[in-house]
Amino acid sequence: MKLDIKILRGDITQIHCDAIVNAANETLLGGGGVDGAIHRAAGKELLEFCRKLKGCRTGQAKISPGFDLKAKYVIHTVGPVWRGGDKNEQALLRSCYQNCMKIAEENKIAVMAFPAISTGVYGYPKEQAAETAISAVNAYKSKNGFPREVLFVCYSKGDEAIYGKLLGFFSAGK
Ligand code: APR
Repeated sequence: MKLDIKILRGDITQIHCDAIVNAANETLLGGGGVDGAIHRAAGKELLEFCRKLKGCRTGQAKISPGFDLKAKYVIHTVGPVWRGGDKNEQALLRSCYQNCMKIAEENKIAVMAFPAISTGVYGYPKEQAAETAISAVNAYKSKNGFPREVLFVCYSKGDEAIYGKLLGFFSAGK
């Protein structure tokens, strides 16, 4: 089953799909950036639910309901903080995308949206992060045909250009 990959520009909290991915921190108790936006849009029930999740290790992912969000679920993942590139950051970022895809497969989530994990507060270089994101999603082999569609939601024109260039490269099968 071919996975559909699309790029969207905008606020991930406004995306009407089955699951949106949150770029969280290990406490899962909210923060700034996309984490703060998702918690604000989902409402306080999300925080109450996340308290029971007892945190999440970097590179791992956990699922919650979307509560007041348009999306049914939120998949919370914790990206690596960029420390120069020789502290296993790429492998940890890759595992964020793989684990989110795995949760989507397990929960039969058809359409999911990713923000550019780790590229804000956590300082991961955007091009390298986008390359890891697209290749991890591209490489994921689902056993049940879920997810069917992955949306990369870019918050800025610059991010959209990065994903657009790289996705062209990947889809050309180079
Ligand atoms: N929709 C889509 N993308 C967004 C949104 C939004 N509403 N808000 C921010 N972004 C983008 C940023 O522009 C960046 O490209 O999400 C990407 C990730 O940035 P951050 O949210 O800063 O996440 P990250 O770099 O992974 O840092 C995580 O920041 O907010 C805290 O609690 C969070 O401690 C954790 C850390």
